[in-house]
Amino acid sequence: MKTRIIQIDRERPDPAAVEEAAALLRAGKLVVFPTETVYGLGAHALDPIAVQKIFDAKERPANDPLIVHIAHIGQVGQCAVGMPAGARKLALSFWAGPLTLVLQKKPEVPDLVTAGLETVALRVPSHRVARALMEMAALPIAAPSANRFSRPSPTTVAHVIDDLDGRVDLILDGGPTDIGLESTIVDFTVDPPVLRRPGGITFEQVHSLVPEVVVQTGQADDTQPQTAPGQMSRHYAPKAELTLYEGPVDAVRRHIAADVRTAAAKGDRIGILAPEEDLSALAPELAGRASAGRVETIPYGSRADLERSGRELYASIRALDATGVAKIFAVGVGADGLARAIHDRLSRAAAGKIKTIVQD
Ligand code: TXA
Ligand code: MG
Repeated sequence: MKTRIIQIDRERPDPAAVEEAAALLRAGKLVVFPTETVYGLGAHALDPIAVQKIFDAKERPANDPLIVHIAHIGQVGQCAVGMPAGARKLALSFWAGPLTLVLQKKPEVPDLVTAGLETVALRVPSHRVARALMEMAALPIAAPSANRFSRPSPTTVAHVIDDLDGRVDLILDGGPTDIGLESTIVDFTVDPPVLRRPGGITFEQVHSLVPEVVVQTGQADDTQPQTAPGQMSRHYAPKAELTLYEGPVDAVRRHIAADVRTAAAKGDRIGILAPEEDLSALAPELAGRASAGRVETIPYGSRADLERSGRELYASIRALDATGVAKIFAVGVGADGLARAIHDRLSRAAAGKIKTIVQD
């Protein structure tokens, strides 16, 4: 299949382009579109044949359920049965925006969308192109992130093309996405409600409206329907082996410098993924002869601007991976507020390889 790409103004989407994309969705085709979080790979959510194409294009396992995107809160009733008071509060405060609510599903939603679960994940994105598309298509749209399974989510069309060129009918290119991390998921089909995935709406924001919410803990089983993302062993994994360093900033920098020297001495090529302040602090160490030519560094935002860190994280992981380094040493930025989502994605990419440095 030949993939068409249409540039679209994110503030004033061209109605003809939106109508063309909507017509493709109604006809059961695949359309990639920008959202405020990451690019989504969309299909008509109530058409199982269309939804199957998503799994084929992504090479996504069938036990990983999809998020259904709707244009406004009034469409919840098309896909879900009822809405608990806490879910309604969150929806009224944070929709349209980077929040997904898991609710009891209606029989009209195909089992393929929900991996056979009796629940459905719903989100109202705020991106103007996404909203225009859903309004014009007048359909719920199932859309996972528009990456191949196990690759980082795409925040630009270049990432989408790397993963899905020739596998989708149309890509709407609205430029880089704002938040860069997938939506916050809160599950209201369990009591108390559970934060399944941290994202652009922080745990603290959710907690202030729904004080009973708890954070998902524990590891799921790869063979069961995935009620929390990224628990399968390969999820978010770069090709390089990634180790996440956490702890006091100075101690982490010292340990990374030492580990880079050791690895470089063995002949390994190393990538460092860190906020820009950390890379500046490490620069004199890395300029040393031992590591020259063996270390690639790519920043992701700044400790002083975690929104930028979130926005840049996946692009930086992809860029570092593309340099062909064997190992990536990643520096975390804490775990509160927006940093919780960054920490979550980095620890999944690390697949358990986390070095917690205590002050030394
Ligand atoms: O920001 C986002 O949420 C992006 C954009 C495109 O909207 N979408 C996204 O979709 O991140 P995806 O497929 O990469 O993540 C979907 C995750 C699944 O892995 C699963 O863990 C969770 O959402 N999910 C979906 N349906 C669920 C359900 N019924 N119960 C619990 N979790 C569910
Ligand atoms: Mg995904």
